[in-house]
Amino acid sequence: MNKMTVRDTDVTGKRVLVRVDFNVPMDAVSGKITDDSRIRAALPTIKYLIERNARVILLSHLGRPKGKPSEGLRLYPVAQRLAEILGKPVRTARDCIGPEAEEAAGALKGGQVLLLENLRFHAEEEAGNPQFAEALAWMGDVYVNDAFGTSHRAHASIAGITRYLPAVAGFLLEKEINTLGGLLENPATPFMAIFGGAKVSDKVGILKNIMNKVDTFLIGGAMSATFLKAKSYEIGQSLVEEDSIDVALELLREAEETGVSILLPVDVVVADEINDKASGEVVPADAVPADRRIVDIGPETVKKYRHALQGARTIFWNGPMGIAEIPQFARGTEAVARYITTLDATTIIGGGSTAEIIYSLGLDDRITFISTGGGASLEFLGGKELPGVVLLKDK
Ligand code: 3PG
Ligand code: MG
Repeated sequence: MNKMTVRDTDVTGKRVLVRVDFNVPMDAVSGKITDDSRIRAALPTIKYLIERNARVILLSHLGRPKGKPSEGLRLYPVAQRLAEILGKPVRTARDCIGPEAEEAAGALKGGQVLLLENLRFHAEEEAGNPQFAEALAWMGDVYVNDAFGTSHRAHASIAGITRYLPAVAGFLLEKEINTLGGLLENPATPFMAIFGGAKVSDKVGILKNIMNKVDTFLIGGAMSATFLKAKSYEIGQSLVEEDSIDVALELLREAEETGVSILLPVDVVVADEINDKASGEVVPADAVPADRRIVDIGPETVKKYRHALQGARTIFWNGPMGIAEIPQFARGTEAVARYITTLDATTIIGGGSTAEIIYSLGLDDRITFISTGGGASLEFLGGKELPGVVLLKDK
């Protein structure tokens, strides 16, 4: 990465504003954090700053409160979790700008940590409002972006703020860019990319951008229905993106011309309803009954995908193979997850729900790198420039 990092600027004793992505999943009923990996991922930068006696002011969003305060989306529980992990107190404020925030920031001593309130309680954050960015910047001497997962958003705390303070990358951002960048530059081959999840339209950019580097694409999840439909298969009630059928055809054609294989399910699990009690049935991919929808890849497909993945040197995976929140439709996803950890390959997981699944299965230790960015990693690997990266100071 050719951007300056916290290592390249003097932070000793300074007021350092650090944009982190503490947008962690929480249980809707208990409000408990169900996966704190995004908090842990920011620790190297936070600890580095504490060791240098910086006054650490953390900025984050949580959820999508749409520009208004929302009690369930306050960052207090996140601050508590961070304090537990750090083993030191983390102060909080009830707002991210204005008198209370400024007072809390002003009162910080060297080595202390403050997490300001959810940035998205102000509509100005997502609008990229310059005054709001300046009000944030006012509290610090240096700005560090360590929020890789939000770096595809040109929001005030990601983009606008870089106009008012020296802006450098944190260690997480650096690691993400270097690791994901490596996939685009010199992946060890065979390079296999597994895609699932809901939408083809979210993945078109990345599929096209890595087409000339990948040997095989393996497709599962709801998005496989669009590909199957493109091949004129009957897919019953499966969710199809009608707008993306042409794109799917184009991708199939492009792959053929490039000599890349796109593997599609040969059998699928289908169900007539989607809930905890629904039961699935395995059918050939070209014989989905008219009243059912695809909810997972089938056992033959798992076998075929395992076979294809054997010998891979690099594997990138984004998106579950089925409706993984429902245990009986999570089997394909789990089988793929477990299999890739047995291979002698560099394994990289695009963030979002795929990352959550890997953590919940306890497989994270056996994966080379799990990105903290879902949308951000897709955009980056799709060849787009991320505002949260381009605007940082060049080395
Ligand atoms: C994410 O979880 O995708 C990031 O935190 C960005 O959030 P957003 O998708 O709501 O912008
Ligand atoms: Mg997102």
